[in-house]
Amino acid sequence: MKPQKYFPDEVYLNGKWLKHDEACVSVFDRAFMLGDGIYEVTPFYYGKAFLLEAHLNRLQTCLNKIQIDFDAFSLKPTVKEAISRAGLGNKDAAVYIQVSRGVAPRTHYYPEKVKTTILLYAFPVTLEGFENKNWDVLVSEDKRWHRCDIKSTALLANVMANEEAVSRGFNENLLIRKGYFTEGSHTSIFFVKYGMVFTHPANNDILEGITRNFVIELCAELDIEVKEKAVHVDELVEIDEIFLTGTTTQIVPVNTITRVEKRVYTAKKDQITRRLQKVFFERTRAK
Ligand code: PDD
Repeated sequence: MKPQKYFPDEVYLNGKWLKHDEACVSVFDRAFMLGDGIYEVTPFYYGKAFLLEAHLNRLQTCLNKIQIDFDAFSLKPTVKEAISRAGLGNKDAAVYIQVSRGVAPRTHYYPEKVKTTILLYAFPVTLEGFENKNWDVLVSEDKRWHRCDIKSTALLANVMANEEAVSRGFNENLLIRKGYFTEGSHTSIFFVKYGMVFTHPANNDILEGITRNFVIELCAELDIEVKEKAVHVDELVEIDEIFLTGTTTQIVPVNTITRVEKRVYTAKKDQITRRLQKVFFERTRAK
């Protein structure tokens, strides 16, 4: 069964707090018409922001990459206000932020003098218990564009991949490009081989995950060697552990991998994943 999701009561749209069903954008909004917008999802543990600066920084970097002139950091107070207005001040939650280039007659080039459309809302998330999950995942062809480093609202290829996984009862996809694992449909991938951790380099083929970068820092603290190198499907036989990371996923081990109809991997170990989960838990739950 697909997980049940709910609308937030209230959203922030262009400076106003509105009931979710009263918040409207123009049909000519470029995020609606062209997917011409950037988004972020930033977590709160017990109502406390975690890595908010890094999330706003990535939002700013992505906006700059597509020349949307907007100060991402100006949203910081609104992000926090969203949490308190939603009554999530001491709960686990996340804030969705979307910056669209704005409303303009449809063109393939960037229109001039357009006012950005800002949408933001808080929603509760179950962040507890991630350490008890163990995911079965599906290998899917990475059919996305060549700028996966940009956190664009145009997520159709990710959505198509994930629908294939979820409708077949899998928890997530592992995407492959020319036989190499890139990332999940909404997560980053880590592989453990010979006690070393491998993850795809932060180039245009993946989104540079904030959780990914934090996990790389944790590995350094724990003296676990990390190699930013793509792993090929044929290397799976040598892999002992695989885990996925993401803002709402946190750190979840991969139990099995299926490719088409065939089981191509079953987890052999879990030691490194468990060590990382433990320190991740301590850091995110620090009072
Ligand atoms: N997804 N890769 C992709 C394609 C993603 O969409 C995400 C996050 C990640 C993990 O990034 P981070 O650690 O910064 O969350 C990797 C978000 C949560 C989403 O689309 O809802």
